[in-house]
Amino acid sequence: MKFFIDTANLNQIREAKDLGILDGVTTNPSLMAKEGITGTENVMKHYKDICDIVGSGDVSAEVISTDFEGMIEEGKRLAAIDPNIVVKVPMIKDGIKAISWFTANGIRTNCTLVFSAGQAILAAKAGATYLSPFIGRVDDISWDGMDLISQISHIYSMQGFETQILAASVRNPLHIVKSAEAGAHVVTCPLDAILGLLNHPLTDIGLAKFLADHKKANG
Ligand code: E4P
Repeated sequence: MKFFIDTANLNQIREAKDLGILDGVTTNPSLMAKEGITGTENVMKHYKDICDIVGSGDVSAEVISTDFEGMIEEGKRLAAIDPNIVVKVPMIKDGIKAISWFTANGIRTNCTLVFSAGQAILAAKAGATYLSPFIGRVDDISWDGMDLISQISHIYSMQGFETQILAASVRNPLHIVKSAEAGAHVVTCPLDAILGLLNHPLTDIGLAKFLADHKKANG
């Protein structure tokens, strides 16, 4: 399973990269706004900065347009920033049309805002490279985000679809573990959720004991 970080914050991306476990980055308009990145030129430059930090990993850059022509123009501009840019397209009718066009023209895509297996089938038929089911937002309305990942995973493997399931809207370390169990190809997470995987009290207790024993024996 690939690990993406879900942020537009350059320091957090560097920190994940330094761990040696980073396979890519996802962003969205809210994450860009949170970092205060506004205006087309600044947004484009910020994507380039992210790509330079990530190196060979994929970086999802989301279109703002909601009509077919607008998405194509925007997607072409985003894809030209760096070979690792993946154009993120919303799960709407024109979005599916745009994903089909990008697929036919060799531009990779990430279909975002996915909340059902039916949407997942449509995106795979259109040739999306990645599919982003939002598990945290499904949990937020007291449905089960993980059931959605399992269902899509079952359908994709049974039908031989090549679209990769990118578990998004991850809120905690358990979401990461459960996504791996449910067959997600990629998980995109906030830095805190990734670092949360490190935590285990027995590790802390065990390390403290090893160091104390070493100190006792060696003075
Ligand atoms: C990433 O691709 C998604 O846009 C992101 O994971 C959404 O996360 P949120 O539901 O925490 O906003």
